[in-house]
Amino acid sequence: MKLFIDTGSVKEVEEVARWGVLAGATTNPSLLAKAEGDAGEAIKRIAEIVQGPTSAEVVSEDPDRMVEEGVAVRTLHEHVIVKVPFGPAGLEATARLRELGHPVNMTLVFSAAQAILAAEAGATYISSFLGRLDDISIDSEFVLREIVEAVHENSSGAQVLAASTRSPLHVVKAATAGCDVATVPYKVLKQMLNHPLTDSGNAGFAKDWATKPELAEWLNGLVEQSKKG
Ligand code: E4P
Repeated sequence: MKLFIDTGSVKEVEEVARWGVLAGATTNPSLLAKAEGDAGEAIKRIAEIVQGPTSAEVVSEDPDRMVEEGVAVRTLHEHVIVKVPFGPAGLEATARLRELGHPVNMTLVFSAAQAILAAEAGATYISSFLGRLDDISIDSEFVLREIVEAVHENSSGAQVLAASTRSPLHVVKAATAGCDVATVPYKVLKQMLNHPLTDSGNAGFAKDWATKPELAEWLNGLVEQSKKG
């Protein structure tokens, strides 16, 4: 499963990209409204850093205008994917954008029935929301597994993108359900680093190493030697 970062913040992308784990990014109108600076510049910079699919969302409710907005955001960077909200207008815009050769991430998908329509309309990515289903006491894992099965059965080749991930457990559930991608907020990516045994393990190694100073001398010497070639 590939990992995307779900953010409008260039700073967050810069930090996490250094870990070497990011294959793309997603933004949405709320995330861009929270971020500082010019939205177009942020999307461009994010796409440049992740060097992979970077979703930028259209906001109109009219299919003609959605297509115009989609074509416009595609001019920002070659990696931009047009994010289109689910609904009759969104399906129409998706089919038309696809015909024009623009890839679409269909967002706000909450059921397998909706996912089947999104795949048939030609979406490249289908964003299946987890957290927002849990918020209204619907089992997001069950729905996600249905969506993965339905979409992967479909001949369209659409990819399931787990969105609205609010915890490391959501990311693990997305991976084990067979999702192609999970888009994950900065805060959750940081939480994914944590394990008490990693911390105590590191502390133990450092303590034992310090009991024999000649070990540090030996390693420093080796580093210097290797730098000289
Ligand atoms: C991403 O594409 C979605 O817009 C995002 O994951 C929504 O997350 P939220 O439900 O936590 O706002």
